[in-house]
Amino acid sequence: MAKLQVAVFASGNGSNFQALVDAEREGRLGAEIRLLVCNRPEAPVVKRAEAAGIPAFVFRPKDYPSREAYEKEILAELTRLDIGLIVLAGFMRILTSVIVDAYAGRIINIHPALLPAFPGLNVIREALEYGVKVTGVTVHFADGNLDAGPIIAQEAVKIEEDDTEETLAERIHKVEHRLLPEVVRKIAEGRVRVEGRRVYVR
Ligand code: GAR
Repeated sequence: MAKLQVAVFASGNGSNFQALVDAEREGRLGAEIRLLVCNRPEAPVVKRAEAAGIPAFVFRPKDYPSREAYEKEILAELTRLDIGLIVLAGFMRILTSVIVDAYAGRIINIHPALLPAFPGLNVIREALEYGVKVTGVTVHFADGNLDAGPIIAQEAVKIEEDDTEETLAERIHKVEHRLLPEVVRKIAEGRVRVEGRRVYVR
């Protein structure tokens, strides 16, 4: 059977992109990363893709009249490459129905908190400032609403009294880098089934 073809969308550092690349290289992904999509040409993730020999679709949103306009170009590329799964790994832009409808049920997102707590941006700091004792990582299907969609996997990370944003982020990223490739693999192996909001993983 042909391997699942994956496109990773990322906007910044790309440590999760790197974790996926490393997992593929080590034979732990069960899928092939075919494309990086990035909205910031200066982002470190672009260099990571170059180093890994993965083609990148890099664009500046302000060069387009609308979100729909750049998404149509991205969609054409996804179709051309026969992409079966989109992984949002730190992609800091909302998707419109152009991509969301074409890829319904085939887009996943990683989020550095236990959703539905702390959706949005800068949530590691928010969780720390709020004073929760436990936060974590969520991988979920993305449906175009911000950090919503059925939850595939979650893992808790305890907040210690002496944590700073940096120390907590470090532990959260460590969990992310393990959890995201695991979820991609399970999807690639056809072990993930969705019924309404509930996701069943074999
Ligand atoms: C990750 O922590 C990811 O969970 C988060 O952005 C970071 C990207 O890091 N995503 C969100 O906050 C989405 N709401 P990376 O570029 O090093 O992979």
